[in-house]
Amino acid sequence: MPTRIHAIHADITKLPVQAIVNAANASLLGGGGVDGAIHRAAGPELLRACQLLAGCDTGDAKLTLGYRLAAHYVIHTVGPVWHGGAQGEPALLASCYRRCMEIAAAQGIRTLAFPCISTGVYGYPIEPAARIAVATVRSAVQTFTEIQEVVFCCFSDSDLAVYQRLLREPTWE
Ligand code: APR
Repeated sequence: MPTRIHAIHADITKLPVQAIVNAANASLLGGGGVDGAIHRAAGPELLRACQLLAGCDTGDAKLTLGYRLAAHYVIHTVGPVWHGGAQGEPALLASCYRRCMEIAAAQGIRTLAFPCISTGVYGYPIEPAARIAVATVRSAVQTFTEIQEVVFCCFSDSDLAVYQRLLREPTWE
């Protein structure tokens, strides 16, 4: 059964998937945006769990439980800050999506949702970011065939429209 890959406009903290991905910062100690929303919804135990992780490198990801969230797990990843695209940002963003898929597969997670990593405070333009997200996830599900569903959880109709257009395009690989 091929992995279902789709996009929706929703608050990721409400999604009943097994894991949600957090667009965190290197400290993993919370912040604004989706990071702040996830910590508020998960409760204080999430911060305590993150304090034990000793941070996370850009492009890497780390797993915690989801505590009060509907999702059982949170996969925290640190996206690149956009500096124009010539400082390794595309490769680092792709690494975020790939590492999250690797961790999900290793943990036996079957359904997960991504926010639009790096496209808020970190300034990554939505179109190239979404193109990387879709291409990386499409490639990863060829390897991690046990993952059944990947949701791109957009927080605006405009972001959703970008993902839906890209998801209608055939695989570029
Ligand atoms: N559900 C889904 N998506 C959300 C939610 C939510 N509840 N809240 C915000 N978003 C969206 C934003 O609209 C944006 O499209 O998540 C995307 C990522 O934006 P940010 O949260 O700003 O994350 P990012 O650009 O990766 O910057 C990370 O921001 O919050 C801090 O601690 C975080 O320092 C880190 C930086």
